Amino acid sequence: MTARRRPEELRSHQWYGAEGQLRTWSHNARMRQLGYEAEEYRGRPVIAVVNTWSDINPCHTHLRDRAQAVKRGVWQAGGFPLEFPVSTLSETYQKPTPMLYRNLLAMETEELLRSYPVDAAVLLGGCDKSTPALLMGAASADIPSVFVPAGPMLPGHWRGETLGSGTDMWKYWDEHRAGNLTDCELRELQSGLARSPGHCMTMGTASTMTAAAEALGMTLPGASSIPAVDSGHERMAAASGRCAVELAWTGLAPSTVLTREAFEDAVTTVLGLGGSTNAVIHLIAMAGRAGVRLTLDDFDRLARTVPVLANVRPGGRTYLMEDFHFAGGLPAFLSRITDLLHLDRPTVGGTLRERIEGAAVHDDDVIRPRDNPVAPEGGVAVLRGNLCPDGAVIKHIAAEPQLLKHTGPAVVFDDYRTMQRTIDDPELGITADSVLVLRNAGPKGGPGMPEYGMLPIPGHLLRQGVRDMVRISDARMSGTSYGTCVLHIAPESYVGGPLALVRTGDPITLDVEARTLRLDVPDEELARRRAEWSPPPARSERGYGALYDDQITQADTGCDFRFLAGPGRTADPYAG
Ligand code: FES
Ligand code: MG
Repeated sequence: MTARRRPEELRSHQWYGAEGQLRTWSHNARMRQLGYEAEEYRGRPVIAVVNTWSDINPCHTHLRDRAQAVKRGVWQAGGFPLEFPVSTLSETYQKPTPMLYRNLLAMETEELLRSYPVDAAVLLGGCDKSTPALLMGAASADIPSVFVPAGPMLPGHWRGETLGSGTDMWKYWDEHRAGNLTDCELRELQSGLARSPGHCMTMGTASTMTAAAEALGMTLPGASSIPAVDSGHERMAAASGRCAVELAWTGLAPSTVLTREAFEDAVTTVLGLGGSTNAVIHLIAMAGRAGVRLTLDDFDRLARTVPVLANVRPGGRTYLMEDFHFAGGLPAFLSRITDLLHLDRPTVGGTLRERIEGAAVHDDDVIRPRDNPVAPEGGVAVLRGNLCPDGAVIKHIAAEPQLLKHTGPAVVFDDYRTMQRTIDDPELGITADSVLVLRNAGPKGGPGMPEYGMLPIPGHLLRQGVRDMVRISDARMSGTSYGTCVLHIAPESYVGGPLALVRTGDPITLDVEARTLRLDVPDEELARRRAEWSPPPARSERGYGALYDDQITQADTGCDFRFLAGPGRTADPYAG
């Protein structure tokens, strides 16, 4: 552990403590304007409480209160808290997808931490992209930081059934389309599906990414599964405030925590939890910020070493995040895979080994023992082939096993709106064997790579009882979704990836065991089609959309902006 800093070594000292300078005098005058006496803040670590609370974000409703608990902890430990509201990424409401704005929040977080008198930060978030965005920003600013996961909402309920947010929305919507659920029943479900503040309580992207943050070592131990409205969540927030003050004194920065070993452990964790495919993109981007080169091949390699032990929907079939929490949470889960982890690496609170010590699983059906896994290998497989030269992913544990090796004729949709409008049209001749293909839904084409990847099953097939088909796209899929959906095809069709050349009727072969996805069309024919293809115009001519279009990278490299990815020199905000 780094030696403790003296007050004059704190970053904030430059703003508040450098005597004899007009700007120091002015900063202290303005602190008086804010209502503080010098003894309340001078010589104390300034802790930024970076808050993604907003009226529009139901997953973060409680974070306004939690920020108060964080501040309580900061004061207790002798720090000085300042809250920084940052933009909110609400998975439900932000269109076309908050993924378009992940890098914007990352950039905002980085620049706030850098440009203000901040010695350490507490980052509050949890709805899907908030977690990677905040951590990417903190990693690039490299200011000591601890993450407070928003926590899962309470389990949903309807007529004696437990409902998982997202997952059961898709499921019952299809049942309604199949004629098995009335309008009235669907309305009832609306009140039961999401019944408290907090992020989705399935092992969707939110739970996956907050677990990844914990596995990386950026949260307090056990923090990620505490239900949002549990009193323990408030206690964890206060403890995180105290932790941030300690981090300010030791100077333990993200660059010390976010090592290659940490990212390998996060990947192993995500795979063993049966987590969201979105984690592939986010972890690659987060690692890039820390100067760690994480690739799709790392995911596929590690997937073969770790079984899925978390029996949490949708990868597992039964439980929700509250059950996972009561079964012992992430420390208990990690205690079952210690042979696969790097135990002596640092975290924001001790080594990983120290964090897991004494953890025990309290329910073997929720967190399975190694000899009785939910699935024998990790939840994500990486595919290659002439349709996806730079890779594609599939969450094969959430697919119908008989479809994992399948050849069928393509039915191609050029964009999402056309697909929505025509999917139920019997003229398309879609059968259960067809391979549904959606293109122009990638990082540039979406734009923002929306979660369109779980293409709907046509109504006539739903009524025949079909519940899964092979679907392929350059889109992402919600972590709460399921089915035989090949996602993240790279390069995407919008930039001329081979997906752009597929035509309805072409045979496509998926073979998950062999890790291949193939378009069975002769090379000469594909070359002919390529010669006819011309790139579509950029989606946006101006503003953030144009910056995004210019800078966004493909899915296999994490969809970061080229100018943000990787470490590098930035101007010293206090120079001159
Ligand atoms: Fe926020 Fe699912 S909508 S986590
Ligand atoms: Mg989601």
